[in-house]
Amino acid sequence: MTYPYQVTDFAGYELAYKRSIEDPEGFWGDIAANFTWKRKWDKVLEWDFLRPEIKWFNGGKLNITENCLDRHLEHSGHLPAIIWESNNPEEHHRMLTYKELHFKVMQFANVLKNNGVKKGDRVCIYMGMIPELAIAVLACARIGAIHSVIFGGFSAQAIADRVHDARAEYIITSDGAYRGAKDIPLKSVIDDALVGDHTVKRVIVSTRTRTPVSMIKGRDVWWEDEIRKVETQGNPFCAAEEMDAEDVLFILYTSGSTGKPKGVVHTTAGYMVWTNYTFVNAFQYQPGMVHFCTADIGWITGHSYIVYGPLSAGGTTLMFEGIPTWPDAGRFWEIVEKYKVNILYTAPTAIRSLMGFGLDYLEGKDLSSLKVLGTVGEPINEEAWHWYNKHIGKEKCPIIDTWWQTETGGVLISNWAGVTPAKPTFATLPMPGVQPCLVDDQGNEIEGNGVTGNLCIKAPWPAIIRTTYGDHERCRQTYFSTYPGKYFTGDGCLRDEEGHYRITGRVDDVLNVSGHRIGTAEVENAINMHAGVIESAVVGYPHDIKGQGIYAFIIYSGTHGDIQLSKQDIVQTVSRIIGPIAKPDKIQFVPGLPKTRSGKIMRRILRKVAEGDFSNFGDTSTLLDPSLVEVIRDGRV
Ligand code: WT7
Repeated sequence: MTYPYQVTDFAGYELAYKRSIEDPEGFWGDIAANFTWKRKWDKVLEWDFLRPEIKWFNGGKLNITENCLDRHLEHSGHLPAIIWESNNPEEHHRMLTYKELHFKVMQFANVLKNNGVKKGDRVCIYMGMIPELAIAVLACARIGAIHSVIFGGFSAQAIADRVHDARAEYIITSDGAYRGAKDIPLKSVIDDALVGDHTVKRVIVSTRTRTPVSMIKGRDVWWEDEIRKVETQGNPFCAAEEMDAEDVLFILYTSGSTGKPKGVVHTTAGYMVWTNYTFVNAFQYQPGMVHFCTADIGWITGHSYIVYGPLSAGGTTLMFEGIPTWPDAGRFWEIVEKYKVNILYTAPTAIRSLMGFGLDYLEGKDLSSLKVLGTVGEPINEEAWHWYNKHIGKEKCPIIDTWWQTETGGVLISNWAGVTPAKPTFATLPMPGVQPCLVDDQGNEIEGNGVTGNLCIKAPWPAIIRTTYGDHERCRQTYFSTYPGKYFTGDGCLRDEEGHYRITGRVDDVLNVSGHRIGTAEVENAINMHAGVIESAVVGYPHDIKGQGIYAFIIYSGTHGDIQLSKQDIVQTVSRIIGPIAKPDKIQFVPGLPKTRSGKIMRRILRKVAEGDFSNFGDTSTLLDPSLVEVIRDGRV
């Protein structure tokens, strides 16, 4: 496969960028023409950010799996599509060629059909990082069902909320998942999530850990049994459902500043074109390269840069079931050596954590296959950037710092490997079609260079969020109403003297913990479920490895008994309600929270205490009880 739209020098980038702004329809129409369509679009782009309503390639008909699978069969059918590395370094790896993956996707698509799944139905997928997860995702897309992958670290309650919000009638899961030294009993968690549920008709369970599970009669079936049924039916073929360009491809839940996660909706054609274009250009993927994105498919990074981007480009994508530090901190480097990985895409938090284990784990590892390094998920600090550059890239691999969001579908601001200049800690320049702007709190655009502001985007790119599932008004309010006529990212940003962008972090009540997005309100809701808790306020504080840690200030009534045990109980509660990723790192019991007379918590003060910065609390005169500030400060944990 070749990519006529791959740009390989800076002048080419500038040209592409210029044309994408002056003639977006011509630009994206030309790129889209490289894909397989069942019917060509009528109009490349129609949009109105106020409603918002955005349509890319409207009238076009296609199926994304024909673009990810079928079209590669003739020339690349024998090439590896997915290489899978087990959690257990002793277990044999698996490799699926395009031909094999195509076959397995059709087979499982037939399983879905046999189980009553139809176009437009929502299917929740709760699995570990095994090839069956990618197969399940693609099988949904094959028949036009909408997948909603739920990260394997979420709790039963979080699953129930998502299944319910998506009104999903089908679930695909596994008996369990391996992650480092842990076995996660996925099916059992699903069972807990579905207690009292009457809408889920079918749970399909694949075998991975052989953890004992209870199968509910009439509801639960084994993946392997269903495959056997399809085999006896004889016909292995499953036609790709004809989808409209704007038909929903998937829903992915993400946290925001309110308590309830939102179902971010992405549609078919724009998402396909964007993930492919950004994959090919930002990473400078060349046919034959092995691409290793270390994310989980439960997050957007895995959707876009393990599954859809690489496969639509006919590439080889490496899926890793385990974690970077098990059995030891050399695991990534062993994998790089074993599969001669060319592109490594990971999160700053992973880099910082591995950095902390020292250089011993790099000893004797051959990393010479690496050509491109990438980071995603949070701002990268100088130290981690230089360590990555020196010890992993041996100062010969460009590092791309890719800024984007679940809502953006793919990378929006990033340097292109070896094509556009890198600058440590800067995402640098926008992708073609992306028009970033900085605005002040009043919504005035801040022109010129050497300025900071709230990051907005002025016009739609093909993979922009279309709606929040079941609640379009929420989408409008969250992203399109703060600065009318613009998409608001929720991030703060610097544009330096050279016009390069550096993302400085969220400006809303959203935390970024180890590259995972967590809403403070969501954590507070979970904490407040604990019987002893009267009220709580959660803020982030700088954490050496996680980027941000979670600091909870809690008014606690259960004063009798052991304070440490009470805190552990609260941590357990959060783990039960959301998942281990949302556990507070620090808990401080306080007699009250610093509120203004109107009842608003002054989070600024709490953030300062959490950070340990007592230098200047600013104006506290509007507080109901200013003396609280000292009490809270002195009680810092
Ligand atoms: C938030 C989005 C994009 C996939 C993973 C996270 C932060 C993301 C960067 C980066 C600085 C970054 C932003 C953004 N973020 N990439 N390269 N530099 N910050 O997706 O969970 O939707 O979170 O992650 O704050 O808004 P997400």
